[in-house]
Amino acid sequence: MRAKYICLTILFLPFVIHASIFSSDSIVHPEVDQNGMVVSQHYLASSVGAQILEDGGNAYDASIAVAFALAVVLPRAGNIGGGGFMVMYDEKTNKSYSIDYREKAPALASKDMYLNDDGSVNNKRAREGILSIGVPGTVYGMWEVHKKFGSLPWKKLLDPAIKLAEEGFIMSPFMVDALNKRYKKLSNYKNFKKIFYKEYPVQMNKRLLQLELAETLKIISKKGVKGFYGGEVADKIVTDMENREGLISLQDLKEYRPVWREPLKGNFKEYEIITMAPPSSGGIHIIQMLNILENFNLEELGHNSAAYAALLSEVMKFAYADRSKYLADPDFFEVPTSRLVSKQYAQAIFKKIKINKVTPSSEILPGKLIPYESEDTTHFSVADSFGNIVSNTYTLNSGYGSGVVITDTGIIMNNEMDDFVSAPGVPNQFGLLGGEANKIEPFKRPLSSMTPTLVFKDSSPIIATGSPGGSVIITAVLQFLLNMLVFDMEISDATVVPRIHHQWVPDILFLEKGFDINHAREIESFGQKIISSGPRTSLESLEIQNDLFYGFGDTRRPDSRAAGY
Ligand code: DON
Repeated sequence: MRAKYICLTILFLPFVIHASIFSSDSIVHPEVDQNGMVVSQHYLASSVGAQILEDGGNAYDASIAVAFALAVVLPRAGNIGGGGFMVMYDEKTNKSYSIDYREKAPALASKDMYLNDDGSVNNKRAREGILSIGVPGTVYGMWEVHKKFGSLPWKKLLDPAIKLAEEGFIMSPFMVDALNKRYKKLSNYKNFKKIFYKEYPVQMNKRLLQLELAETLKIISKKGVKGFYGGEVADKIVTDMENREGLISLQDLKEYRPVWREPLKGNFKEYEIITMAPPSSGGIHIIQMLNILENFNLEELGHNSAAYAALLSEVMKFAYADRSKYLADPDFFEVPTSRLVSKQYAQAIFKKIKINKVTPSSEILPGKLIPYESEDTTHFSVADSFGNIVSNTYTLNSGYGSGVVITDTGIIMNNEMDDFVSAPGVPNQFGLLGGEANKIEPFKRPLSSMTPTLVFKDSSPIIATGSPGGSVIITAVLQFLLNMLVFDMEISDATVVPRIHHQWVPDILFLEKGFDINHAREIESFGQKIISSGPRTSLESLEIQNDLFYGFGDTRRPDSRAAGY
């Protein structure tokens, strides 16, 4: 596919030829290995996964071990108190699968639960503290994957996380920084403060011990899923809920189940895209946008040229406008999936878009401006030598979730309830608008943007990717796919080049720092308002080519790392 693979280098003897491993044009290079690859947002978790592969585990075993390790070493996003989605390809059955272990609204949740008496939305209540918590799905999700595809004992997958929590690890400068930045908000939560702010400011080179979390993980290791959704851990969750007027009951925990869902499939050029279906909006909009974009000659426009960025921006506006109306939990709302991902519908949108011309968002549908907060989620990709591949994104929603740590357990709880629509026309923390479809209802899953995705060529998986970033996830994944599949970039280049983002409302095109200033001016001259933005995403991707595994951890989050085996 890429020039570097097509171009065969003749070495010494005329009969010995080999394809070059790295592109000679790239200034950043991926990790390369022969037997498998793990890419995650923390180097310790990536090593845990690589070790599991080396010990004979498959990509599923490694993924589960990485998920639990991240709950310890990346507590801002890695979790057992949150939820997410995993998309995977299983070599044995030659099939793709996806599991939805998204959090659910508790039975006592109600549509107006975040409204003040005067009808305005109490954003703080939706985003922080006990009422912002959805019923967590991560432990059940990992358990289901283990039961269906795992090859090593469950206990072995928990051991590395238990060790990291019990013996501690040295906090990275990035983690120290993240904690210090959030002190004002998170020090209000006494259980959180006890673990993470033994001192303030948190100093570099300190070892973080999480002894209560280690005990909780030991219970989960011993009792499996029953160790979280029942027994003493569940009792502690419920006691905190009762003491602090939270809504989650023992029944909510006992009844929580993840859902195996048919993954969403699309085609782009000679590739097949396998991604997450609702309740994530990510998959639908990736396919929808690729369907529109395949009608343009993107190579001719040139990567990150003004015309290219302005075109992407137009396509993004249409996708996010649809997101606000048609996307929600499919168990509660009939999502018109097939219509949204049809080539016919893409044609209709394609006809409305002109190169170098900007349609104001207000002409697509009305909306209003809102500010952003940068928050957290995390993605990891894993591939093994057996042919299995995993793409997993999971989250607490905001960095460190709700701030609530369940007493004596070390479990940081999510604030996923903010992904619902608190009131029509009122955006959530990512500035996303929604309507009736995504209103709060008991047992419902809030709409997500998480986009774990796989790419296949000639029926074999060649790419796994995904990212944190809330609303920005979908456009980050889109651009990574275009960089790889249209512009033939090396995976490292495809990850680091500046990205753009438009989400229909506000009508602003965000250009990541490093985007060519002259091109930015040109886009402005088309009539598109632009803003320069810092990094809000972190792609953790891998690629398989010529029996080699390439991995690259996004430098936007400096602890990201690929670990090969
Ligand atoms: O599911 C979602 O779309 C959000 N809860 C994800 C949050 C997120 O990515 C925050 N990360 N930076």
